[in-house]
Amino acid sequence: MTVGLGTGSTVYFTLVRLAERIESEGLSIRGVPTSEDTAEKARAFGIPLASLDEVEAIDLTIDGADEIDAQFCLTKGGGGALLREKVVAYISKREAIVVGRDKVVERLGTTFRLPVEVIPFARPMVVRAITALGADPQLRTEDSGEPYHTDNGNEILDCVFPDGISDPAALEADLDRIPGVVESGLFVGLAQICFVGEEDGSCTVLEL
Ligand code: A5P
Repeated sequence: MTVGLGTGSTVYFTLVRLAERIESEGLSIRGVPTSEDTAEKARAFGIPLASLDEVEAIDLTIDGADEIDAQFCLTKGGGGALLREKVVAYISKREAIVVGRDKVVERLGTTFRLPVEVIPFARPMVVRAITALGADPQLRTEDSGEPYHTDNGNEILDCVFPDGISDPAALEADLDRIPGVVESGLFVGLAQICFVGEEDGSCTVLEL
């Protein structure tokens, strides 16, 4: 199988388990990483990797999320990998999400700021356009105060929506229409199954 490898502290455990199964069961997979960080970890674990030059479609992607609602709409990008994560999700036959119970929300945008990846040149204009949509966009920075840069050399605006996000699909389309926005962390219609880690260590499987 060709397996999309998500990014983040939750997916880390997926990488660990895949590596164990490659070792113990001879599981034959190739992984498509969604970030430099995941690529580095996967290499260290001995998970074979492939690039999009070699892969047209992905059988299954396993990724984390920052929030997930009842329709399996997601906010993603807390770790800055939203663009590659969305590219990989787009060509995946199935997308599985792994989250802790605290990330299952009634309305997106209520517990997490929505990351939007922008081209640095366009940032001032994009800030004004996103503000006009009713949000408060804040530039993500490093501890040094310098702008954070994604694996793609872009910046991220973390957007606060005072009342949350009432219509994720409409907001995603509105954001995509702003020149200079590369991608938003809204994932709509991309995930089909969700594994929720519970406080007691059990796992609840949700399917659409
Ligand atoms: C990476 O940019 C994100 O989209 C992650 O998938 C998301 O932030 C979940 O990360 P954690 O599992 O670390 O919370």
